[in-house]
Amino acid sequence: MQFSIKSSAIEALRTACVLVPVAGSKQLTVGGKALDEVMGGALSAALARGDLLSKAGSTLLVYGEARKVARAVLVATGDEAEASERGFADAVRAGLRQAGTMACDEAVSLLHEVAVKGRDLRWKLRQQVAVGRDLAYRFDRLKSRKETQPVRPGRLHLLVDRSDATASQAAMARAVALANGHDLARDLGNLPGNICTPTYLAEAGRKLATEFKLKVQVLDRKQMEALKMGSLLSVARGSDEPPKLVVLQYNGGPAKQAPVVLIGKGITFDTGGISLKPAAEMDEMKFDMCGAASVLGTLRAVAEMKLPINVVGMIAASENMPSGKATKPGDVVTSMSGQTIEILNTDAEGRLVLADAITYAERFKPAVVIDIATLTGACVIALGNHRSGLFSNHDALAEALLAAGKESGDPCWRMPLDDEYGEALKSNFADMANVGGRAGGSITAACFLARFAKGTDWAHLDIAGTAWKSGAAKGSSGRPVPLLTQYLIDRASPA
Ligand code: BES
Ligand code: MN
Ligand code: ZN
Repeated sequence: MQFSIKSSAIEALRTACVLVPVAGSKQLTVGGKALDEVMGGALSAALARGDLLSKAGSTLLVYGEARKVARAVLVATGDEAEASERGFADAVRAGLRQAGTMACDEAVSLLHEVAVKGRDLRWKLRQQVAVGRDLAYRFDRLKSRKETQPVRPGRLHLLVDRSDATASQAAMARAVALANGHDLARDLGNLPGNICTPTYLAEAGRKLATEFKLKVQVLDRKQMEALKMGSLLSVARGSDEPPKLVVLQYNGGPAKQAPVVLIGKGITFDTGGISLKPAAEMDEMKFDMCGAASVLGTLRAVAEMKLPINVVGMIAASENMPSGKATKPGDVVTSMSGQTIEILNTDAEGRLVLADAITYAERFKPAVVIDIATLTGACVIALGNHRSGLFSNHDALAEALLAAGKESGDPCWRMPLDDEYGEALKSNFADMANVGGRAGGSITAACFLARFAKGTDWAHLDIAGTAWKSGAAKGSSGRPVPLLTQYLIDRASPA
């Protein structure tokens, strides 16, 4: 779906379809009233009959003159005069769906004329782009029969006042850049483990680097050995696929500005290793690289926006497989930091690859380090599938990420990180074990990571519950690309 900003007069509109918002009071907006006049009062007449329910997302189709405005779709935004964020999103989705079921190759939207609680015009424009691109998203590249119907409407014109046109254009361009990054993350997440291997992820990083002129470096097993990344390498031991540590550098800021380092967990398939997972739903462990995908997606968005900021994206990519060479429970390894780890459970592999990546990040003298990982099933139990888990050793960083999650509609929730939780990691044979008990599993995992981020302003996002959907709608969500991108936007241009 393509988007454009338009600022012509309603009277001059020639289009297949106009999306018109209707809030609780059943009052038309300014543009809605003007359109009602053009259509000879057909909109107000239809509303007067009471056929449009007030529930957000209800629609009512009104026909107009074929060569002017051929159709208007009245879309309810809810009971209140000011729509809720959800009500607005539901209305956008329903309006676009309705237009898509008819012969509308393009449509004009007035939906942003409705008031949304606490949100401005730019947000409403961005939201329409996000919802439209989400509706248009397809992952059919592995099906021999593609969807034959083109996405409808193929183009959405956002009609704004001339005085708002420049700001609206900028907001729309950013929303499109975000959607491009978001889709990249979704695509990578949805690819199966036999295609999306660590080598494939490294190639995806190289491709992104070429397209957006980023600096790229891919460390292979030999280089990791030389760096003494014993923790990361212990995960890759059982796999025939070579591990990769991918480093991408986007330098949009001043040369001396310390970068934000994003580190993604890139386990392209997590069998659990020798601590093998049960068979049910194991296919979903192809999504165990969604942290890495979100790093690539965020870099893509940031680069397309040309944000004035420096960002380093790292992905720690490996498979986690059982084999005769695989790491065994009880094995002790030495991480790049020098700390030794007793691997009591080979299924707690994410923290092992991240530990060495976090240590490696020190060389970029980062302003902050944020790791993103489908780290623990325990986080899904704690927070469900709505909010990602946020852990941080730095309050201001945590606040900024919480705010970015709220702003972007990709929310997270701060979890504790007290030293007391870390006591569960005590080992009789090494500096620490890689697992605590069942209690507070997402917290002990974060405590483990924190030991490799000492002296750094660091945050960890556990996206195990938010990175993909299970069941009939199984597929990658592309989260938390919106959250991370918003955080970087906020950092690049403090309010
Ligand atoms: N990738 C999984 C976490 C996961 C599991 C995410 C299920 C989403 C759904 C991770 O590597 C893992 O296996 N974690 C273990 C840790 C445990 C062994 C301490 C878990 O959560 O069970
Ligand atoms: Mn695991
Ligand atoms: Zn995993």
